Amino acid sequence: MIKKYRFGEPFETGAVLEQKKAEDAELTFFQVKQGEKLSFFKALEETDRIYGLGENVRGINKRGWIYKSECNDVPIHREDTRSLYGAHNFFVIEGKVKTGIFFDTPSAITFDMGYTEYGSILIESEEPDLDVYIIEGGSILDIVGEFRRIIGRSYIPPKWAFGYQQSRWGYRDEKDIREVVREHRSNHIPLDAVYMDIDYMESYKDFSIDKSRFPDLKGLVQEMKEEHIHLVPIIDAGVKIEPGYQVYEEGCEKGYFCKEEDGTEFVAGVWPGQVHFPDFLNPDAGRWFGEHYRCLLDCGIDGFWNDMNEPAIFYSQKRLEKVFAKFGAYQGENLDTHAFFKYLEAVNGLGGNSDDYKQFYHQTPMGRIRHDKVHNIYGYKMTEAAADAFKRYAPERRTLMFSRASYIGMHRCSGIWQGDNLSWWSHLLLNIQMMPSLNMCGFLYTGADIGGFGSDTTEDLLLRWLAFGIFTPLMRNHASAGTREQEVYRFGNQNAFRNIIGIRYGLIPYLYSEFVKCAGDNRMMFMPLSFVFGKDERTYDIEDQLLVGDSLMIAPVYTQNANGRFVYLPEDMVMVRMKSLKEKTLEKMKQGDHYIKVAADEVVFFIRKNKMLPLSCGGESINEIDENRFELLAGASWDSAYELYRDDGYSSEIREDGIIIVNIDKRGSVEMHGADVPEVKVLLAD
Ligand code: GLC
Repeated sequence: MIKKYRFGEPFETGAVLEQKKAEDAELTFFQVKQGEKLSFFKALEETDRIYGLGENVRGINKRGWIYKSECNDVPIHREDTRSLYGAHNFFVIEGKVKTGIFFDTPSAITFDMGYTEYGSILIESEEPDLDVYIIEGGSILDIVGEFRRIIGRSYIPPKWAFGYQQSRWGYRDEKDIREVVREHRSNHIPLDAVYMDIDYMESYKDFSIDKSRFPDLKGLVQEMKEEHIHLVPIIDAGVKIEPGYQVYEEGCEKGYFCKEEDGTEFVAGVWPGQVHFPDFLNPDAGRWFGEHYRCLLDCGIDGFWNDMNEPAIFYSQKRLEKVFAKFGAYQGENLDTHAFFKYLEAVNGLGGNSDDYKQFYHQTPMGRIRHDKVHNIYGYKMTEAAADAFKRYAPERRTLMFSRASYIGMHRCSGIWQGDNLSWWSHLLLNIQMMPSLNMCGFLYTGADIGGFGSDTTEDLLLRWLAFGIFTPLMRNHASAGTREQEVYRFGNQNAFRNIIGIRYGLIPYLYSEFVKCAGDNRMMFMPLSFVFGKDERTYDIEDQLLVGDSLMIAPVYTQNANGRFVYLPEDMVMVRMKSLKEKTLEKMKQGDHYIKVAADEVVFFIRKNKMLPLSCGGESINEIDENRFELLAGASWDSAYELYRDDGYSSEIREDGIIIVNIDKRGSVEMHGADVPEVKVLLAD
């Protein structure tokens, strides 16, 4: 059951699709106080756990820390960071009673989840106008399902976006792109996409192509298509200020950039130097910006990533000038500790300064509004504008889209990547732990920069990260300029990389099937064990194993020099150990604790009792996967069932008759129902 409570006159974010009348009665779930901020207080029970909040640091149970929804560019995030790139205000308190709560507000909001006092939560909204949704349900999965129903179906990307993807900020020209493809193809390392980071543009201008480095993009896209490779260019939020540059000129002429109070365009600094920010909260401006994607769509591009759309600000022109003016006074002075730290503070305060977000305005259908009051939906509206354009200009197929900044609602038209991370083992664990909370908030198409974006990776970190990444819908190796090159062919253990990525291609039909079913039924694809095995209290503490779809449980290795790890099985399962798609062993294992050895060149995962895994023969790109031939992996003398969903992977709708029902009975005989049943071979663990 869902109840909506309204405070003031909230700005319509677009997160919730189902228009619900607000309750007349007061919200009693929280003690509500209007002081300097609107605050919501609740005492917690000793054993209450808190799940959700989407993209955030720390573990799966969010209790004990303070989080702030305020889309932020934080490449070096740590355990004590409070905000990341997205703002996802949905969580569930799970204890004797189970309640889901969604705070729908486009401005900043803080969730003190037992940080100030372990025994209570305190939520403080910067703005007094917001909607609160309270969702009661019998189980956490029911509550999540209800929430996901009212926010609408999650985005489904084209199937090729489940393939392995290679990216690096530093591919400078078509030669570099060709080399990446050649190295993968000649070493038989599967690959479906290569990314074009900001260097493909001319002086970092959106929708421009540097002709000296990409003389014939259309030709290159075609050449890549023949190799079954998709090129995915980046688009940034800021538009370079440069007289004569069409996007800039048009934006100024039509008044589509964000303006300061006095009506002049706000000037910020990002990659190209001075930029204006398109006013994505003005639907006309969004439509206009969306139209520009057409120049790339017309070259045959069918995937994009939207970046820097929190929006990230390196500096605002006005603040920069003030800081420069101050510096003059320091020159020739003896900088004592006070002066020195003041100086540093001024420089460090240039980037992402919260005061700068108060200097510009949006022209919205609900009137003019200052940016900070709607900050958290800026990236969402940019991405929605792009997705609307894809519907207009490429309606016959799905286009890949994922964004860095996000708010709930954007999950309907795009995925997200988990922003800049580091080549740290702790960020591999963070990637694992973020998957369920993002799924709770509707973001199914997601993954992190595999191998780590910033800092130097190591061969073993990349192997272990890939061994987890083969399960995440977005599987992209991405690294920053200036870091160690981390394309897998740069490392010695070629076989291991080839085989692990190869296993991904065996799993793709299962992952895609689970993904589309979870999107269609508003379910989570990645779940903590406790969401399903909640009767078993042991599962409450397990934050490094996940259920992936209906059939699988994973227990990734995420520490360096480990030869294996402890794994808890909440029920009897089959352990699958793979060195490659061909070299695999299956072993039935009993419920309970196990120490499992996992070498760095292996993938180990588990099949749940009475479930099965349809495994394909793989391929070097998505189009090579034969979806009419499967090995079915399960336990002997189980009654296993699976619903396999298949479609062409490109057209826009979910195929109604795409499900095949597969059963393997205790004696090992298979029965299948549905259209075009595949050929199957059964592999059972004794
Ligand atoms: C941002 C993005 C990163 C990208 C870089 C250069 O840091 O998050 O993925 O490589 O900008 O465009």
